[in-house]
Amino acid sequence: MQPLNRQFELIRQSATVSLTDRILALKAQGKPIISLQVGDPDFGTPPAVADAALAALQRGQTHYAPSNGTSALRRAIAHKMKRDENVEYDSDSEILVTNGGIHAYYSALQSILNPGDDVLIPDPSWATHANMTIMLRGNAVRVAAPAENGFIPPLDSWREALTPRTRAIVLNYPSNPTGAYPSRDYLQSLSEFAAEHDLWIVSDEVYGSLYYGERPTSAAEVAKDRALIVNSLSKSYAMTGWRVGYLAAPPRVIANALKASQNSITCVAPFIQEAAAFALTDSATQSATAFMRAEYAQRRALVLRLADECQSERVIASPPQGAFYFFLDMRPLKMSSVEICERLLNEVGVALMPGSAFGAQGEGFVRLCIAASEADIEAGFRKTVEWAEGQ
Ligand SMILES: Cc1ncc(COP(=O)(O)O)c(C=O)c1O
Repeated sequence: MQPLNRQFELIRQSATVSLTDRILALKAQGKPIISLQVGDPDFGTPPAVADAALAALQRGQTHYAPSNGTSALRRAIAHKMKRDENVEYDSDSEILVTNGGIHAYYSALQSILNPGDDVLIPDPSWATHANMTIMLRGNAVRVAAPAENGFIPPLDSWREALTPRTRAIVLNYPSNPTGAYPSRDYLQSLSEFAAEHDLWIVSDEVYGSLYYGERPTSAAEVAKDRALIVNSLSKSYAMTGWRVGYLAAPPRVIANALKASQNSITCVAPFIQEAAAFALTDSATQSATAFMRAEYAQRRALVLRLADECQSERVIASPPQGAFYFFLDMRPLKMSSVEICERLLNEVGVALMPGSAFGAQGEGFVRLCIAASEADIEAGFRKTVEWAEGQ
């Protein structure tokens, strides 16, 4: 047998893949399943954004576009970063348009990593953060972000995880799966630590506009010269299927990322880019996204109200600071997250994501996504509590 790329043997995602397969199989059999496991907005993309794409298609925007992105979209991204984070980016040299946030993250790591480099990644964190590092032949070194510390790694933990091979740290705030994000002071101290050890900061900010209190600080605001900002329109504009995002980083990083893009995807489809530029700059579209944020805030309040009413000691719901997830603490059940999710699915038809899919610190937790209808959220939460109380 011909050999394969051995790196893929190191990537483990069996629990979530088998759970997803099982959900699909149950749905195919016609079983009613309350799906609260995926992180995909239940809102439609604002219709004016779709109209912009259609108009571009009809105008013949159906050929290759520049590999780094159209100048209109790069300027729109720079405008967004100035408007929302008050940071200046040069749209010609510091921005690359990508195929969604995941491709921006891939481009970021690919541009800076050499085989055997260590990358510090909080635990829990979206599984792709570690998996991508491994795919690119780096070592994913997990830094505990325990529940008891608000799911933020204590500053000393970064230092303790440091090795001579450490090249980068990965941040994702607000976090998937916890919604947590740190204070500006914390980020400032972390950027000083990164400067002291000459580390890149890869900051995944795809949930950056989804927050319920003070605006989270972008890594660009405290460490622009070493920050690789990963972002997309997927979550903030309900555009997950459009596959458009960006990397904002120092010019030499963008130069590498551009070579990678030219030699892999060529470009993001031009009509998609035109719609993305429209979405980022059109004022009515910003109101549409503000409406979605208000809806998520209402659903968050609903879960907190239900948790207060149920007073369960087995399903503990702490208020997320951002994103659209609750990371429910079900450790009192003393079952694995995978067992909890499998049993919830099989016994009461509620689909949630096991916390262990995000790292060892997520064991005993389950992620409930509130990008779903209030009726589903309420039924899903109540069934979860009833089930847990019956154990
Ligand atoms: C933390 C995080 N980053 C990136 C992504 C990917 O976003 P995109 O759809 O823009 O590729 C996701 C999607 O779930 C995510 O949760």
